[in-house]
Amino acid sequence: MNKELRPCVIAGNWKMNKNRLEAKALIEEMKPLVADASCEVVICVPYTNLETALELTKGTNIKVGAENCHFKKSGAYTGEISAEMLSEMGVEYVVIGHSERRQYFGETDQTVNLRTLAALEAGLKVIVCVGETLEQRELGYTETLLKFQTKMALTNVTADQLKNIVIAYEPVWAIGTGVTATADQADEGNGYVRAAVAEVYGKAVAETVTVQYGGSMNAGNCDELLSKINVDGGLIGGASLKAPDFATIVKAGSK
Ligand code: 13P
Repeated sequence: MNKELRPCVIAGNWKMNKNRLEAKALIEEMKPLVADASCEVVICVPYTNLETALELTKGTNIKVGAENCHFKKSGAYTGEISAEMLSEMGVEYVVIGHSERRQYFGETDQTVNLRTLAALEAGLKVIVCVGETLEQRELGYTETLLKFQTKMALTNVTADQLKNIVIAYEPVWAIGTGVTATADQADEGNGYVRAAVAEVYGKAVAETVTVQYGGSMNAGNCDELLSKINVDGGLIGGASLKAPDFATIVKAGSK
């Protein structure tokens, strides 16, 4: 196993936070703090902040992502945004299948797959999220579930397209709760995800796929989490809303 085969990606997921002025201030504060990062730095922001983020990060090492996209190119889907609309703006990344979308907005493994395919076709890089609930973990289904979700999300994704996929293992019980998976639990979960990729695409390909951990990653625990062989980055919620904390995680990802 060789971590050097896959880029470390540290991505902020702002969720439904920050108005335009606040976004501007956060990005301006963040820019110098992450400027010398050797890992990939991404901020995934609400649609209303995409234009601001793209403008302010021009010429910097910060990449901009959205938090979702629809799977149709256009049409009567009130309130939705297509992958083409994002790529046409200059957006590079999109988060797909976050557990909050699965939990509150009826996202299923099928729609996660459709959105992933549409985003790839539009030229976006996809951060696709998987993760078990506490109940599923306690029933002993973590491995089965993570492998199933991973394979479902990647259905009909070619090995070539996989180069534009990052997978985020986010145990639902660790999101926004302050409860972090231990570094070993994170490593194990990420390992199941990589094993699922290996079962479909082969071991050599799976070694090149970036698998992030997400769920209460912060400035205090990032070093230990990111030191694990299967943890190739982080998808960060709360701590990505504070520039110094996010910068500390970026620093840990640059080691
Ligand atoms: P927190 O870092 O706030 O737990 O959120 C994690 C997450 O859901 C990132 O997508």
